[in-house]
Amino acid sequence: MGATITHVLGARPNFVKAAPVIRALAAAGHEQRIVHTGQHYDERMSQVFFVQLGLPEPDVNLGVGSGTQARQTAEIMVGMEQEFTENSSAIGVLYGDVNSTLGAALAAAKLGIPLAHVEAGLRSFDDTMPEEINRRLTDQVCDLLFVTSAEAIGNLAREGRPAGAVHFVGNPMIDTLLANLDKFDAASARRAYDLDERYVVATLHRPGNVDSPDRAADLVEALHEVAAKLDVIIPLHPRGRATLVATGLLDAPRVRVVDPLGYIEFMSLVRGAAAIITDSGGVQEETTLLRVPCLTLRPNTERPVTITSGSNRLVTTAELAAAVLAACDDGPYAGELPPLWDGQAGPRIARIITAWLRAADD
Ligand code: UD1
Ligand code: UDP
Repeated sequence: MGATITHVLGARPNFVKAAPVIRALAAAGHEQRIVHTGQHYDERMSQVFFVQLGLPEPDVNLGVGSGTQARQTAEIMVGMEQEFTENSSAIGVLYGDVNSTLGAALAAAKLGIPLAHVEAGLRSFDDTMPEEINRRLTDQVCDLLFVTSAEAIGNLAREGRPAGAVHFVGNPMIDTLLANLDKFDAASARRAYDLDERYVVATLHRPGNVDSPDRAADLVEALHEVAAKLDVIIPLHPRGRATLVATGLLDAPRVRVVDPLGYIEFMSLVRGAAAIITDSGGVQEETTLLRVPCLTLRPNTERPVTITSGSNRLVTTAELAAAVLAACDDGPYAGELPPLWDGQAGPRIARIITAWLRAADD
């Protein structure tokens, strides 16, 4: 097949979602181009995922780096406009809700390039999150909307997106998890960090949690309360490091702060944890599948299925320590998992894109 499919990747969660889609499209014989915007650039935020997940090296890296919301999005738009102008593309494939997703969506839409959005229709209904704006606007300009859970279908319908564009395909982040499950070695991860048999993993990076010193101080107090009873290991995203450390995060003997981890090392720790504390989107889903209790430090989630069909619970800082201890006692989630989270999202997406390209060719 001659027409090129362009994947736009920029930030850590994009890599995890794109790997199974790119693999399935390659197996179907498509020509593909991988554009890395450079939104994430540290080796541990980017390159390690390409290596561990077997992603092809990007054909180009736009090197946009960090910036304010507007500057980063604008630089992605400018870079993607040039990229789409110089390299013909039958369809662009976008992932998730990061600034790279929206920047690429706006650039492509104005050039008339068709677009597919993987993980469409998720909504937190919280416009203070930059991701919520990215999600809503991206979905408005995409031709194929691949959804991971049923409520996304209703969200897209309410926003006027045509039913024919929406495809419930399952969750590619879960494809990646299932494809790598036998590499997640919880026992050696625990030993590597000298953790107790019962330990907790925490990840925090939402602006609403880590940007303000006051909020960071609340969080640190809550984490210290947990660490009074349990070992807590925190692979710390670069965004919050300075503020959380300045607020005293390290001043508790059972708190271990480490650099962001590669996917295999991180998921190995998660698999063996008694509970997870997070504000990540993806981690809420991964813990659902692994049935590890997840306490989400946010007032809302765009992934409600992780609460109704998983072990996720939204908590405040005041509730955190008691919720973690209760979750550890309750043990793994034993209910039904969300429909189609079966490791086959990538092949489903590849089949739909292949059919769509054939129809567009006719
Ligand atoms: C971005 C996404 C967020 C996603 C997260 C995943 C947006 C609006 N936000 O947030 O939805 O959950 O990625 O991890 O797109 N930095 C480094 N090294 C890097 C990358 C970032 O040090 O490789 C630091 C910089 O100080 C930067 C800050 O992290 O200013 C924030 O990076 P940015 O990409 O703007 O947003 P994230 O908080 O990573
Ligand atoms: N992740 C990782 N190493 C870490 C923290 C997270 O590999 O130290 C993985 C995690 O398993 C998930 C992805 O990164 O697959 C999610 O990224 P993140 O939490 O940064 O973004 P979000 O999902 O909140 O957008």
